[in-house]
Amino acid sequence: LHIIHVTAEMAPIAKVGGLGDVVTGLARACLLRGHTVDVMLPFYECIIKEQISDLTLITSYNSYHDGSWIPTNAYRGVVSGVAIILIQPTNHFFKGRNVYGGSYNELEAYLFFSRACLEWMQVTGTQPDIIHVHEWQTGALPLLYWDMYHSLSLKKPRIVLTIHNMEHFGECSKEQLDKCGLEGSIYASIDKAVDDRTLGHNPERLSLLKGGIVYSNAVVTVSPSYLKETLCSGWLSSALIKHRDKYIGILNGIDNTIWNPASDVFLPAKFHAQNFEGKKLCKYYVQKGLGLPTGAHVTDMTHKVPLVVCITRLVAQKGLHLIVHAIKRVEELGGQMIVLGKAPDAKVEREFEGLANSYNQGCSIRILLIYSEELSHMLYAAADMVLVPSMYEPCGLSQMIGMRYGAVPVVRKTGGLADTVFDMDDQPNHEMGNGFVFEGIDEASLNWALDRAFLYFVDKPDKWKSIVRKVMELDNSWNNTAGKYVEVYNAIRS
Ligand code: ADP
Ligand code: GLC
Repeated sequence: LHIIHVTAEMAPIAKVGGLGDVVTGLARACLLRGHTVDVMLPFYECIIKEQISDLTLITSYNSYHDGSWIPTNAYRGVVSGVAIILIQPTNHFFKGRNVYGGSYNELEAYLFFSRACLEWMQVTGTQPDIIHVHEWQTGALPLLYWDMYHSLSLKKPRIVLTIHNMEHFGECSKEQLDKCGLEGSIYASIDKAVDDRTLGHNPERLSLLKGGIVYSNAVVTVSPSYLKETLCSGWLSSALIKHRDKYIGILNGIDNTIWNPASDVFLPAKFHAQNFEGKKLCKYYVQKGLGLPTGAHVTDMTHKVPLVVCITRLVAQKGLHLIVHAIKRVEELGGQMIVLGKAPDAKVEREFEGLANSYNQGCSIRILLIYSEELSHMLYAAADMVLVPSMYEPCGLSQMIGMRYGAVPVVRKTGGLADTVFDMDDQPNHEMGNGFVFEGIDEASLNWALDRAFLYFVDKPDKWKSIVRKVMELDNSWNNTAGKYVEVYNAIRS
């Protein structure tokens, strides 16, 4: 098969969260299965060029936006073995220091990008079997595709949409939609099609994600539990119920080559499930580096003081009040905790800066408000526990990466967390136990899971070792799930 992903993120060159990891991991897994895969993404000004090899200008063409044609360049390159195509308009779109939040209209920029990708395929005669779009940013592509290609006698690519997070649905006005050459009336017909004209929102506003749901040949979300959750609530649920026959939940995987403690170049010592002595050195190194107490020898603190890490975007979805509470609770319990997080919202950033100022001089908590791929690898390797207290979590990669590095997950039971972490003390499913799980959204619920994790760590060191070995041996990689995507690709072709 020839598959083209069209996406706003790709790790490591333009990654904000798990979307970037998933695109790279899934693309690599499909390549290994013998398929041809390209990834198309915007040529952000902030893209990490050092991580792209063979970057070459391949096409200059004009792409439509708001009544005029914008000179646009397409570049080819290779990232982690995957062929990429970068789309670079010569206007102000995609300029700025971050992937998101530049001083241009994001919605219009991604509408432009979706159309420019299709136009590039037309100009170059590229006819993949599958176009795989992700999230609201590229949700308009299926619609544009029908508009632009329908009457052409080209081989028709089939379209898959993966929804990574239903909270963001690309709300948009008819006027904005018109700018990419589509008429708002198309959307009105979609609304009629799903019997949901008011949407619980301003009826004059439209949703790019909803358009993607209606016009794609298959819609995937990133875990079976999140699929159930999205069918039961949220204003897109009526659209999803209407299109239930093409809606499927496929659990994300992690890329076992990128996330591998046995060969990770960022780690001071390597380790694996059969021998994780090296993990102690990673912990010692991180404690030393961040000025946390270590004891005289590598092994001293490693045995006595559990280290909890939380590596996350600092947004409401991630359970901010529970992260703040966990910091206090870990300190009370005599443990150590490191938060590595970036807050897109200035108010949240100020709140965490305040916390960082009050805790960072002490001897048990470090709050680092930066994005650092390198540090994230070291922290997963150093951690005894990885905390993911999300209010909702479509899949979550952090708990899976943590497990791969021998960090036992402490998570809230929701979405993909519920599909990947099973409580150690849940008697009927005891053998499946691989972490500590709580259900409520209150502090006491979190304490219940965190306190038990500490008890196991301190009082049952042998048992703890066996849990660490077990989580490291689990296979949460794309080896397990990429095949399900290939089944979807094949099913919609026939
Ligand atoms: P989401 O996509 O909702 O942010 P996931 O758990 O699916 O959550 O994926 C998050 C990804 O981003 C993981 O690879 C995690 O390690 C990484 N990450 C999150 N915050 C940071 C940060 N501040 N620095 C480095 N990596 C981060
Ligand atoms: C989203 C979700 C996260 C998921 C990731 C990759 O950002 O919040 O749960 O793991 O996408 O699919």
